[in-house]
Amino acid sequence: MEKEKKKFYIRTFGCQMNFHDSEKISGVLSENGFSEVQDGDRDKADIIIFNTCSIREKAEQKFFSELGRLKRLKRQRPGLKIAVAGCVAQQMGRELLRRAPFVDCIAGPQNIHSLGHSIGRILLEREAQPGGLDNGGPGPDIDVNIGENPGLASMELPAARKKKPGAWVSIMYGCDNFCTYCIVPFTRGREVCRPAGSILDEMRRLAEDGFREVTLLGQNVNSYRSPAGDTGFPGLLEMADRVGGIKRIRFVTSHPRDLSEGLIEAVGGLEKLCEHIHLPLQSGSDAVLARMNRRYILADYMDKIDRLRGRLPGISITTDIIAGFPGETEEDHRATMAALRRIEFDGIFAFKYSARPGTPASKFPGRLPAEVSAGRLEEILALQDEITLRKNMALEGSIEEVMVEGPDEKNKNCLSGRTRTNKIVNFSADPSMVLSAGDTVALKIIRGRRHSLEGELPAP
Ligand code: 5AD
Ligand code: SF4
Repeated sequence: MEKEKKKFYIRTFGCQMNFHDSEKISGVLSENGFSEVQDGDRDKADIIIFNTCSIREKAEQKFFSELGRLKRLKRQRPGLKIAVAGCVAQQMGRELLRRAPFVDCIAGPQNIHSLGHSIGRILLEREAQPGGLDNGGPGPDIDVNIGENPGLASMELPAARKKKPGAWVSIMYGCDNFCTYCIVPFTRGREVCRPAGSILDEMRRLAEDGFREVTLLGQNVNSYRSPAGDTGFPGLLEMADRVGGIKRIRFVTSHPRDLSEGLIEAVGGLEKLCEHIHLPLQSGSDAVLARMNRRYILADYMDKIDRLRGRLPGISITTDIIAGFPGETEEDHRATMAALRRIEFDGIFAFKYSARPGTPASKFPGRLPAEVSAGRLEEILALQDEITLRKNMALEGSIEEVMVEGPDEKNKNCLSGRTRTNKIVNFSADPSMVLSAGDTVALKIIRGRRHSLEGELPAP
């Protein structure tokens, strides 16, 4: 009789890169003979993997509080194994074991390819010596080396994707920007680009498997350069645009300084490339931008926005903002508010500054009291809410191409999809129309809300 497969469960914190890494962890483990269990069956898992994020203190705290709960679960089931992967694992390494000695395996974001082997090893040891670490058994498995070209191995891993029609595809790993607040260059290492051929091959396979939308992923996709030196990011987009079967292409995330004229041309000229760009501004104050080491001033940013909108008036633009960076004055904050009013983003992600250990900004003077940052964040979010609602309402009456994603979470009789500009549209479909994930329909927008649009099939 075939031996029953060991079961694993993955819980992911953080950004899209991390969610995609989890798909790769799942791919690696499935190839190594393990089987994945979903949310409801966590307690049946032989191994629980936390893929962690350290970008802000809050993300880290959330992970630690969930890890604390696992400690109790492990007490009830000593055979359970716990692996911690991702950015907290990378950053803390062995230190994590001092804080949570019941953890069995640690792997940084660049070492997820070794997880299949590490997990196999700790599970074998469990059979040989139940209780493992807690019982004075063999030591935990730690892999947080950042080697020569480490990101490459994880970029080539087979990802186990769970949902159609969209798929993430890694094009580069790591980051060389060193914004002074950011932990990413320390957790994900230096920038490494994936060969263009391998990216395009993966896209072709995805199309064959029925995926219809691809999001090219990297910490700073605009600085993509193929290792062979034969193409930059606009060239890659042109090649990607020719992959048959894929209907839409997106990319995240961009750095304003590296957003080239070539990319602006591509955004307006390629059929599948969607009319949306996420372009983190971070602050509207030049003094703060300089201390953040962003290497642009607001006027440069505005110039790029003008050129993008000149090329493509309907483009949607989203951004990230940090409130309460060290030394941020009331005047700096006003400059950010004014920039938001002037640019009118389609949506923003805004965060309170969080000091990350080891980053230059964590040692900057002028740390603001938490209430001040919180107050500024609230003002930013309230202002943007008004702008987003206004912009969404302005779409009422227009016709938008919507790619169906699946049933609307809140109303199972309705369907949900996205416009090319990345806005969610909920709509009720005529039952005679059989629509499945990845189909595109032209919908009339009948209502603009703050976080979504409501659409309907236009009268014939
Ligand atoms: N504190 C607050 N926000 C941060 N971000 C990155 N590092 C920090 C930090 N230390 C935000 C930036 C970035 C987004 C992914 O997270 O806005 O664009
Ligand atoms: Fe979090 Fe940054 Fe790591 Fe993503 S890359 S998981 S945002 S710390």
